[in-house]
Amino acid sequence: MRAPPMSIEPILLSQNPALLPVVAMWYFTQWGRHVPGRSHDDECQRLEVFLHDGALPLLLIALDNGEPVAAAQLKFHERTEHPEREHWLGGVYVCPSHRGRGLAARLIEELMARAAALGVRDVYLQTEADDGGLYRRLGWTPLESVTHAGGSPVRILWRRLAPR
Ligand SMILES: CC(C)(COP(=O)(O)OP(=O)(O)OC[C@H]1O[C@@H](n2cnc3c(N)ncnc32)[C@H](O)[C@@H]1OP(=O)(O)O)[C@@H](O)C(=O)NCCC(=O)NCCS
Repeated sequence: MRAPPMSIEPILLSQNPALLPVVAMWYFTQWGRHVPGRSHDDECQRLEVFLHDGALPLLLIALDNGEPVAAAQLKFHERTEHPEREHWLGGVYVCPSHRGRGLAARLIEELMARAAALGVRDVYLQTEADDGGLYRRLGWTPLESVTHAGGSPVRILWRRLAPR
């Protein structure tokens, strides 16, 4: 059966702070629960830096007919070995019901447009997809492979945004 069409509206977390616990639960279920001692409350606290208007960091949420279905972040210094690598794409999450229809790509492109408008040029990310997966298609270039905090190898990628 074909999936119903999506009517996607991107909003910043700061436009609807009531969505913070929902996004925190996605992140906790996907990543946080594997970190010893981390709770959903901790995950909520980590998202409080995104509760402001008009400045970095950004947390963009996709609404489908008003329901939150995906999120992505533009944040500072996800990794610290290279302090000059300031801006990072992270927290890319799409609800299982909405995967495989290009939603992550759409949300990331909207986030990058907003980041570029705020003066961001170079954006880094880390992914377990060694070939870069979806990010390579969106213009990121693979750099070195490193070890993630959890012990698994991850690939660092870099993309330069066109100025706005
Ligand atoms: C990864 C994820 C965000 C993709 O969402 P989506 O809306 O289905 O993505 P799109 O439809 O825009 O693109 C799908 C592509 O993403 C690729 N992909 C899946 N997981 C990926 C990952 N971890 N890193 C890079 N690319 C990935 C798929 O292989 C697919 O590639 P293809 O189009 O060449 O076949 C979604 O599966 C998800 O939320 N997974 C759990 C959280 C996660 O792993 N986030 C990414 C962290 S780097």
